[in-house]
Amino acid sequence: MSTPHSIAVLGLGRMGTAIATRLAALDLDVVGWTRSGRRVAGVRTASGPNEAVATADITLLAMFDGQACQQVVDQVRGSLPKEAVVVNTSTIAPAEATMLARQLVHYVHAPVLGSVPAATAGTLQILAAADQGTLDRVRPVLDALGTVRRVEDASTAAALKLVANNSLAGAVLALRDSLRQADALGLPRAEVLNVLELGQLGGLVARKRSFLTGRPTDARAEFTIGALAKDLALLAAATDAPSRSAADLAATPADPEADIAAAATVPAVDDAVLAPLRAYIRGHATGDPSHFRDAFRPTAHIEGIRDGGFVSWSLDDYCAHFDGRPAPNEATRSRRTDSVDVHGTVATATMTLWHGVDTFTDVFLLVRDGAGWRIANKAYHRHANPSSSA
Ligand SMILES: NC(=O)c1ccc[n+]([C@@H]2O[C@H](COP(=O)([O-])OP(=O)(O)OC[C@H]3O[C@@H](n4cnc5c(N)ncnc54)[C@H](OP(=O)(O)O)[C@@H]3O)[C@@H](O)[C@H]2O)c1
Repeated sequence: MSTPHSIAVLGLGRMGTAIATRLAALDLDVVGWTRSGRRVAGVRTASGPNEAVATADITLLAMFDGQACQQVVDQVRGSLPKEAVVVNTSTIAPAEATMLARQLVHYVHAPVLGSVPAATAGTLQILAAADQGTLDRVRPVLDALGTVRRVEDASTAAALKLVANNSLAGAVLALRDSLRQADALGLPRAEVLNVLELGQLGGLVARKRSFLTGRPTDARAEFTIGALAKDLALLAAATDAPSRSAADLAATPADPEADIAAAATVPAVDDAVLAPLRAYIRGHATGDPSHFRDAFRPTAHIEGIRDGGFVSWSLDDYCAHFDGRPAPNEATRSRRTDSVDVHGTVATATMTLWHGVDTFTDVFLLVRDGAGWRIANKAYHRHANPSSSA
């Protein structure tokens, strides 16, 4: 393809704006269009998508999701010049990418790693899937945006991008965990961020510092919680495997239009839901069953496998095992609440208890009513010596 290229950029959101601006700044012939009619300084805009693509050698999509890609492709298909190549930088499902690759004669599936600053600087990592001839034709434009890594096919490119974003979500959630632990220790946020910047999460902390200070910021979201949650939902649907990160991100109590870094700063779980778990720990520490009666609803059952058989104790059965005195080896025992997940009026929690030769994993179901949170039921697994008592 001879230069200069004529490029239509469809979708002038965060990434589309940065991409169109960069290509226009390199004196390429760029025309943009976006559904909302938003205009971008330095980029010529068309009044509709058909007008935008009609004379373009390359149509570049920067749409929110696969559905938006499909809608726009359906809209412009008849206006695309015969030899025009559609380059799709959107993060979509592998099956959606395959579908578009089948529908369009000249198609490059090209999801990108890197956010707005990388698009602006031309340092994106581009996972490009296309036959060699088609890829060669769009190469100068992709080279202007970053580094191209050729990938086998559209589905693989889309899948790799989702896996990459799964690791990004993991990093955001790891940062959330570290900030919560630091807050619980009363450490000053600025000092915590300085130190975290030196470690494994350093790149993320450095890039997102303005969103992490705990103070309001005017900085515009570069990559939204909603977009990352979309990607993790696509991945979970494609794999049909449980995704803790997808659930955590989707349940984040923050504006989906906020930057992903805001997901790292949401407060820790409310103390109220921890109250029955703390009463439960006090019951074990003191041997005083009244703490268990504070912790559990009266209808609770305590269930697990003992001596090879399923046992379901009522709360009275359970309390009868405690005589009001701490276990003789209490000084060597320890307990840790591993996870608490609140979903409105219900919550799940897990706890590990190291009790002498036994280690227990307790799994709790909690319910909140007008009187507050209580444990509705507990199931446990006893590791190691089966002859020890709970
Ligand atoms: N932001 C990042 O850091 C980043 C990095 C890598 C990859 N990505 C991926 O790149 C894509 C774009 O991300 P972004 O951050 O730029 O998202 P964004 O700011 O939300 O922009 C989304 C774009 O899609 C358009 N759109 C949404 N639904 C549409 C529909 N039904 N029909 C037509 N247009 C529609 C929007 O149009 P209007 O706003 O004009 O209505 C907007 O132009 C997403 O797939 C995202 O996952 C983003």
